[in-house]
Amino acid sequence: MLKGRIVNLRARELADAERMHRWINDREVTATLGNRYLWSLAAEEEFLRGQTSRPPSFPDQSFAIETKDGRHIGTTGLHRASPENRNAEMGIMVGEKDCWSRGYGTDALITLLRFAFGEMNLHRVELHVYADNERGIACYRKCGFVEEVCLRQFRYRNGQWIDGLEMGVLVHEFEALHGLGAKEETHA
Ligand SMILES: CC(C)(COP(=O)(O)OP(=O)(O)OC[C@H]1O[C@@H](n2cnc3c(N)ncnc32)[C@H](O)[C@@H]1OP(=O)(O)O)[C@@H](O)C(=O)NCCC(=O)NCCS
Repeated sequence: MLKGRIVNLRARELADAERMHRWINDREVTATLGNRYLWSLAAEEEFLRGQTSRPPSFPDQSFAIETKDGRHIGTTGLHRASPENRNAEMGIMVGEKDCWSRGYGTDALITLLRFAFGEMNLHRVELHVYADNERGIACYRKCGFVEEVCLRQFRYRNGQWIDGLEMGVLVHEFEALHGLGAKEETHA
């Protein structure tokens, strides 16, 4: 388990399928995600079975996000990691909407980035975000990501084009802000 200040990251399990199925079919949750199609539970289970039945590998790491009292609230991961370029793409979904804007996403990403930079020895992590995802952009900036590229008319949704942003963070930028050592919240 990777311990953050207010969340932990753990391996994903097949038993997560029902919650993930609920989140991926919630149009409010997917409004800011690339996914637009509706998933059956069988498809979600099949997807998770594929992910959970093989050992973790350097290029693709996925985690469940849990609050400290063990509530599964979302998912995050590092994808397409390159050992030569020492970079990877990051993705995140806090699926439980009552948990939005309470700092969980930021803590999950700081924990993920500590693992990426402090354990996997990556040099750069990047992400794509839609320009109208103000909560997401605010969260990423707090983690140390900076806007690098505007991708014009990147996404079509509700009859409209929305720009995309590519954001990135380098190891020394992250370390200066958050350090590479774990900082779990301590309770007296
Ligand atoms: C994007 C997401 C990961 C962020 O996680 P989160 O736990 O909600 O975010 P946090 O609370 O850590 O940080 C969000 C920040 O945005 C701020 N915020 C919220 N709504 C905002 C808005 N409309 N404009 C500007 N800032 C906003 C919050 O106040 C908070 O900042 P603060 O801590 O300084 O007050 C999460 O909301 C989510 O998964 N959303 C749905 C799926 C998604 O968009 N995934 C990412 C796709 S790129």
